[in-house]
Amino acid sequence: MIRGEHIQELVQDLLDQRRAGFSLPQAFYVDPALYEVDLDAVFGAEWLFACNACEIPKSGDYLTLEIGVNSIVVLRDREGGVRAFHNTCRHRGSRICTKETGRASVLVCPYHQWSYGLDGALRGARQMPKDFDRSDYGLVPAHVETICGMVYVSIADDPPDLSGFRRAVTPFIAPHAPERTKVAHVTTIVEEANWKLVIENNRECYHCAGNHPELLATLVEFALPDDPAGTAEFQGLIDAKTAKWDGLGLPHRPADGGDAFRCIRLPFHEGAVSFTPDGRPACAKLLGDLTEPDLGSVRMFRAPNNWNHFLSDHIIHFRVLPLSVDRTALRTTWLVHEDAVEGVDYDVETMTSVWTATNRQDADLAALNHRGIRSKAYRPGPYAPSEFMLTQFTDWYAGKLAAALPPPAMRMAAE
Ligand code: FES
Ligand SMILES: [Fe+2]
Repeated sequence: MIRGEHIQELVQDLLDQRRAGFSLPQAFYVDPALYEVDLDAVFGAEWLFACNACEIPKSGDYLTLEIGVNSIVVLRDREGGVRAFHNTCRHRGSRICTKETGRASVLVCPYHQWSYGLDGALRGARQMPKDFDRSDYGLVPAHVETICGMVYVSIADDPPDLSGFRRAVTPFIAPHAPERTKVAHVTTIVEEANWKLVIENNRECYHCAGNHPELLATLVEFALPDDPAGTAEFQGLIDAKTAKWDGLGLPHRPADGGDAFRCIRLPFHEGAVSFTPDGRPACAKLLGDLTEPDLGSVRMFRAPNNWNHFLSDHIIHFRVLPLSVDRTALRTTWLVHEDAVEGVDYDVETMTSVWTATNRQDADLAALNHRGIRSKAYRPGPYAPSEFMLTQFTDWYAGKLAAALPPPAMRMAAE
């Protein structure tokens, strides 16, 4: 719930000003007070992509992520399960795990060395009195769900139901066997832009032709099988590839995720099967038990912080986390078959060069976008038809904020 009458009124005013199909009023992108609202009403309320479970394959492997001021540790427990805890000591509150990734049989707080098991239970608390009950001081758990290898966490008291999302995306993703992958490469870049501009930039390819020569060597710009902007060549490509995928039993028609998520399989340009400079496979060992390299790319997006590409030969996860009103961390993870051998089956540079260049270009665009929005001349502008996913995203965002406001009657009663 958004707290404070002043900020509630501000959010309501801005929501009232907002025009669907237009970029958001300026304050949503640049006002630190609205950034705090986002942390609460969006990042504190939703499921957030954290990592792939293959990043923490063994008992004690952990990964930390920062959701605003809340640090979360995601770990593999002794039974092989994935758990998530707040990374805050129950003694006097210190951060416990200080690295982004690591392995530990117990989590030891650096301050006074209270130690916690991989189930979150407090194991050691030296010099505490004999009657001190350790069972009262376990780590505070966070919600965690693993869907086709993707680990989502939530710090909400009562997070949204993920069952519809799980049901919709599993048939697309499961054939790519993400549970039998390993990390080939990880990068994190910091974009000088509000997190929503990073997402908006990702949700349209209107900007691709002018900015992404490496990406467009293989990626087809159109986002729907019946895209009104699609060329005859694209339609021919869709017809040929979807017939092939139907024969293989692989879903491709867009899943109905409303404004919250999207999942679709789309082809590369004819002759290309992967995001490499020449379109050839980036990894000779295909994922899971796949034998056909020409599977296009399953593009899956879930608001607010995650998009992905599932190819025949590798998977790319993108994770967005806000750092401040005008800085956003983008973490990109490339995964290959768990048995693929670097230098034999794949070359990291060949696999990652296209998206490394694309990420850089997108970061520069988002930063320019943010700087321009700060101007007194900024006014919300109309999304183009090919930017329909921005309409979906901003509608979703406005809905999250509206849901976090008290009902108008309660606000009036408080006045
Ligand atoms: S704050 Fe962690 S042991 Fe004291
Ligand atoms: Fe882009």
